Amino acid sequence: MATKSIEIPDTIEVKHPLDPLTPDELEQVIAIVRRETSIDERALFETVMLQEPDKSVVRAFRDSQAIRRDAFVAVQDRTAGKVFEGRVSLDDDRLVSWEYLPGVQTRIINEELEEMAALVKVHPDFIEGLRKRGITDLDKVNVENMTQGNFGTEEEATRRLMRAHAFYVETPGDNPHVRAIDGLVPVVDLNEMTVLRVEDFGVKPIPPETGNYQSESQEQLRAAPARLDITQPDGPGFQVDGQLVTWENWSFRVGFTPREGMVLHTIGYRDGENDRPIIYRASLTELVVPYAETANDYFRNHSFDLGETVFGTCVNALTLGCDCLGEIHYLDVHIANGRGEVVRYPNAICMHEEDYGVLWKHTNPITHQTVVRRSRRMVVSSFYTVGNYDYGIFWYFYQDGTIEFEAKLTGILYCGAVEDGQPTAYGRMVAPNVNGMIHEHYFNVRLDMEVDGPDNAVVEVEADLVPTGPDNPHGNAHGARETLLESETQAARDIKPELGRYWKVINRGRTNRMGGHTAYKLMPEANIKPMHQPGSPFMNRAGFVEHDLWVTRYAEGEDFPCGSYVSQSLGGDGLPKWTRADRSLKDEDLVLWYTMGVFHVPRLEDFPIMPMEYTGFKLKPLGFFDRNPALDLAPPHKK
Ligand code: CU
Repeated sequence: MATKSIEIPDTIEVKHPLDPLTPDELEQVIAIVRRETSIDERALFETVMLQEPDKSVVRAFRDSQAIRRDAFVAVQDRTAGKVFEGRVSLDDDRLVSWEYLPGVQTRIINEELEEMAALVKVHPDFIEGLRKRGITDLDKVNVENMTQGNFGTEEEATRRLMRAHAFYVETPGDNPHVRAIDGLVPVVDLNEMTVLRVEDFGVKPIPPETGNYQSESQEQLRAAPARLDITQPDGPGFQVDGQLVTWENWSFRVGFTPREGMVLHTIGYRDGENDRPIIYRASLTELVVPYAETANDYFRNHSFDLGETVFGTCVNALTLGCDCLGEIHYLDVHIANGRGEVVRYPNAICMHEEDYGVLWKHTNPITHQTVVRRSRRMVVSSFYTVGNYDYGIFWYFYQDGTIEFEAKLTGILYCGAVEDGQPTAYGRMVAPNVNGMIHEHYFNVRLDMEVDGPDNAVVEVEADLVPTGPDNPHGNAHGARETLLESETQAARDIKPELGRYWKVINRGRTNRMGGHTAYKLMPEANIKPMHQPGSPFMNRAGFVEHDLWVTRYAEGEDFPCGSYVSQSLGGDGLPKWTRADRSLKDEDLVLWYTMGVFHVPRLEDFPIMPMEYTGFKLKPLGFFDRNPALDLAPPHKK
């Protein structure tokens, strides 16, 4: 995956207030923080990113106006055991604020994990535990991490903890995640960088199979499929100017933050002479994977891949012809690593067009004339490797005004080891002695909406069934019931597929040609309910999974559904807390938070590497346009 590099890139011009911090700016921020605070060399930078300006500044901005640049910084001061947040003015070259945040931990930073793996490997109790399992060669041990969570103990409240889970790797390049050295768990204080203890839950056999998936591991490769070239001899149909992308009638800005990865800003549609705003900001804001297994310390396993990991640093460098096919435009991203070095991630964001079959069609039965238009979609995507899993985050734009979010899931199952014949109630055997543990993946996407402007409202729509009776003598009547969601507690909602329930974001200050309010609807797909019990540590920490949809009134600092600091949290922050204020949602600046869950009972076919799974949702115009907005598409070329 990521062939990231530390190098001094060319100076990048800032063209817009939402442009991510450039390498020069990142370096300036780091220098200011080092100069003006008392953090020492051991301190780690969790996040250095643009402090996004006020929406009013963005909305009023015109090309070539002066741009003020501010930065946000979060630092894990390991020596002091403290977390600090800072604001930096790049224009004034100074620290504007520096605040100690008591009682929280930053996300886990890659450099800590590297140090932890090296530390664990030389600990005598770990080496003794390996010897009990017949392993003496430390080069064959892959040390991974599993977050501690918070189950209410004293050390969870006071220390920065991480648990090491190890896997046997017989030959370099073997699958590093499938041969669990089960039950041997060093517990590390990351601030002190000391092994507190090595827990041993008992020896299990090392699974015999390598679980390799590279072509060299196959006895025979099938013939390559027939050649399929995707070419655009005249180049792609989209334009890229810095972070600004325009395609068909769409325009949006592609951003990136260390905490969220790819972010889309100011998504709008050119409708005749008007640029019509739809979404101010869209990003993935949580990805949590809770497991069902009760054995050993596996009950703790509910890693928040966004809330506890610096997700952006997991982004892959993509390869043309492999990850992406066709006429591709890539964007690089730049992130300050834990040590404050600027790292370039080349080809992190992929943009291209895809043919998507037929968009609309009719054959006139009288004239026999067929009129057909093909669908083209614009794809903006990036991939992230978080431990054993690999996630694709995809946004699609269509010519009929549809926006689609899709998460793709692949990579390697999280596997424990079991005895021959040992029952696995909360997992499935996927290879000899390999227990693929049952789990879920919950994605949360934050949609800061601005349908035709900042003031929006949300209406729930579902089928309204009418009992047979005097008003419905033939039993066919059914309407669509519309309910305005007036406040935040009322707007914590769940899907209801049998009634076709969806939600529309409307602008009550704008009407379409039939007198309705212009709107976009959020169309849910299959989803799951929480599988963990109410009051469990997971449910306390990930309260957002209780509902598929939440709507909040925009407020600065309400960026993540579990709050800004999730590591070792007891829960309580984020959506459940904010919405207790029950703010009015009528004609306000609204944020939609949509949660998608995938129930993953491992299959034999998911081993040794998992074919892609998908989940997502669509946003479709609903009376936003006065008619099919793709009537004006040119006819396709007949061949
Ligand atoms: Cu899974």
